[in-house]
Amino acid sequence: MDDQHAIMMETMNELRLALVQGAKRTQANELLDKLIEFTRLHFWNEELLLERHGFPGLAGHRAEHRRLLAQITESAHRLQHNESLPMGDLLLFLHDWFIDHVEDVDRQYGPWMNEHNVY
Ligand SMILES: [Fe+2]
Ligand SMILES: [Fe+2]
Repeated sequence: MDDQHAIMMETMNELRLALVQGAKRTQANELLDKLIEFTRLHFWNEELLLERHGFPGLAGHRAEHRRLLAQITESAHRLQHNESLPMGDLLLFLHDWFIDHVEDVDRQYGPWMNEHNVY
């Protein structure tokens, strides 16, 4: 899971860098799509893992994933259909939720897994 978190962080940095370097909107949109697709995949993998091991906080974690994904997809969609909206705001938002989620919500299952000798 940590590897996937690292890839998400990298993709976000890639997007930030592209924007700073004045990338074309289409290129930024592509990177954004890539990030969303990967996030979807990661959430799915994570939920599968938690489900397989009967993690008691799964329902809440899954709800949080759903909420985030809906929020990102919605913002990205709006952004991709309105060229005048600033992409930097979305990037800030993405970065914040990523840090919050990975460092708070995702941290809750690690110790539980260790206690139950998963891994
Ligand atoms: Fe998660
Ligand atoms: Fe995660």
